[in-house]
Amino acid sequence: MWMGKSLLSMDHADAGALRLLLSQAHADAWRGDELDGKVVANLFFEDSTRTRVSFSIAAQTLGAKIVDLTSKGSSIAKGETLLDTAWTIEAMGVDAMVVRAGQSGAAALIDVHTKCSIVNAGDGTHQHPTQALTDALTIGRSFERTDNWDFSGLKVAIVGDVVSSRVARSNAGVLKALGAEVVMVGPPSMVSGSLGVFGCGVSVDLDAVLGDVDVAMMLRIQFERGGGSVLASTREYHARYGMSVARSERMKSGAIVMHPGPMNRGVEIAPEVADGERSVVLEQVRGGVLVRKAVLAHCLG
Ligand code: CP
Repeated sequence: MWMGKSLLSMDHADAGALRLLLSQAHADAWRGDELDGKVVANLFFEDSTRTRVSFSIAAQTLGAKIVDLTSKGSSIAKGETLLDTAWTIEAMGVDAMVVRAGQSGAAALIDVHTKCSIVNAGDGTHQHPTQALTDALTIGRSFERTDNWDFSGLKVAIVGDVVSSRVARSNAGVLKALGAEVVMVGPPSMVSGSLGVFGCGVSVDLDAVLGDVDVAMMLRIQFERGGGSVLASTREYHARYGMSVARSERMKSGAIVMHPGPMNRGVEIAPEVADGERSVVLEQVRGGVLVRKAVLAHCLG
């Protein structure tokens, strides 16, 4: 099954299941005791603000207890392996682990070797499923597609450091399943023809596609994964691929600008655009809590 007790990837995401999850997230009609007696562990081996806090709020709102583990201050800092840590936490009686790690495949590895529910909260450059659900919720709400979550006729540009981006890979799966047209845009070192396997277009010319899209999803340059190492300068990057005020003004009426955060202001997005009328950045953050409630309720339901 694409999604059962665990949510690991948006590859092969099922459109019907996606629409059900998005409808539940949008309605946000929970009693508040759905996860009574459950314990959810946040295992965050990489830094996070949005994902970690929103999973905590979501779990607590549905009645679960939450425990937080980060690399710093835990035995991971002493060299304990990912699996030893997961087995240790599982032995204490948790029902679900929300896992963020720098290694692609980390959440799937833990899923294979444990019995509890595993939710992938971002693994290396591979997948970030709940971010893609958050983004789909925001797009559906912005374009009034909440009755059927059918994104036919919408064109989405995913712009920037695509090769490093788990957000881009998960979004490709979700957006294609819901019927959107997707084009990946960035400098040749950050997009690759092989991204065509996701059924997306590929372009190195942002200005050529921008006037035609409903959504520009700007990606963070992943400096910590070497994403910016091939750039001459961040100023040149902004000039060619940044969402400047001038570019935002050339977008279609009603088009939106997204960013999963955290943002490098002045690099992939100008501060005036990040805080401007087209920006739905904080809507994405708000939607993150709603989506994570639906995911936890489904995985632990
Ligand atoms: N978008 C996202 O995953 O943000 P955090 O790293 O702050 O969780």
